[in-house]
Amino acid sequence: MQVKEKQENRVVSQSFHFDGLASYATERDAIVAEDSNDPVHMVYGDKLAEKTALFLERFTGACLYAVKANPHPSVLKFLWERGVRKFEMASLREVEFISEMFPDAEMYFMHPVKSRKAIRFSFERGVRSFAYDSVDELRKIEEETEFATDLNLFLRIRVDQTASAHPLSGKFGATLNEAPLLLQRASKYCKSLGITFHVGSQCLDPQSYVTAITQLSNMLRQSGCVVDRLDVGGGFPVSYPGMQPAPLTTYFDAIHKALEDADLSALEILCEPGRALVAEGGGVAVRVEMRKGQMLYLNDGTYGSLFDAGVSAWPYPLDAIRVDGEGLDHELSAFKLYGPTCDSLDVMEGPYMLPDNIAEGDWIVFRHLGAYGYAMQTRFNGFYSDKTVAIG
Ligand SMILES: Cc1ncc(COP(=O)(O)O)c(C=O)c1O
Repeated sequence: MQVKEKQENRVVSQSFHFDGLASYATERDAIVAEDSNDPVHMVYGDKLAEKTALFLERFTGACLYAVKANPHPSVLKFLWERGVRKFEMASLREVEFISEMFPDAEMYFMHPVKSRKAIRFSFERGVRSFAYDSVDELRKIEEETEFATDLNLFLRIRVDQTASAHPLSGKFGATLNEAPLLLQRASKYCKSLGITFHVGSQCLDPQSYVTAITQLSNMLRQSGCVVDRLDVGGGFPVSYPGMQPAPLTTYFDAIHKALEDADLSALEILCEPGRALVAEGGGVAVRVEMRKGQMLYLNDGTYGSLFDAGVSAWPYPLDAIRVDGEGLDHELSAFKLYGPTCDSLDVMEGPYMLPDNIAEGDWIVFRHLGAYGYAMQTRFNGFYSDKTVAIG
């Protein structure tokens, strides 16, 4: 058994406004007032503001927010109000709602495999920046934009992802050997030519970016290809239990130095953070519906916002909140968590350390779930939560 210091609710010094969201001083206040049957998503303006400022002020280059990490309209609006104007998008629907919400946004459609309809739709909505990783995708882009000459094309290159806790490897990206021909082919008609890569999500070693930049620079030198832009993608990490990466500024410094060393600093530089921009700015409070020994049955799970907790065994920081009755124990013990659906895949092995006397009706707050939480929910079995509140 472990003993935990008494949990205090998060207290923030400054309060932030989120359009369309009820706001509470503490998570406990939110849980009591909302009296929700569904999980309650929570957003923390102080953390979102801090990370946004860090990327906009300390990364030397453009910052595109990867919408997939958290497309909640109130979060998007909050980021916009703090200066985020560029968005990395993966689908027709993301293009649709970003273009409707922010008609002046700069939109980048960086999924390397797009449907023809999505390309045509986004071009009509003003998208001019597209990623590709094959001749076939390039042909689709050419045809669906009717051979437009004002496109910014980015070749997605496959790079080493072994330092990432959540690799995206194997699926997308041309090899360095394939790159020169693919760049030459696109350079014939585009307005600007770029390279993009993704080192994998939650990259725990800044050297991954350095290696990718060095390899790309060698490829460019050897092939004689010239590009205008370099997009270092997402992958920037967050501190989770058992994962304590270097500060984001260490990553930025490593990238800036690698660009200088490779003589690529004159290029237009971009990054596409998802997780690192919004993870700490959100969480979800879930209720214990049943306790059977060390097994807790919750109202959220792997088909909801806890996909990564179950399928990827991601270790989130947790806090338990008891609304009524005697307090929660300081002593912690190990629990296995179950989601609400009928599927036996809906399980989170953990072990999760929670107060020894946790019981039906108590709430558990999963922190650092502002990325890939709300965004991952399905409606399987009718379990879903649209309830989002602001804390602080
Ligand atoms: C093309 C692209 N850009 C950016 C991101 C965001 O990555 P992360 O959340 O690791 O920052 C992703 C994530 O899948 C992606 O596929």
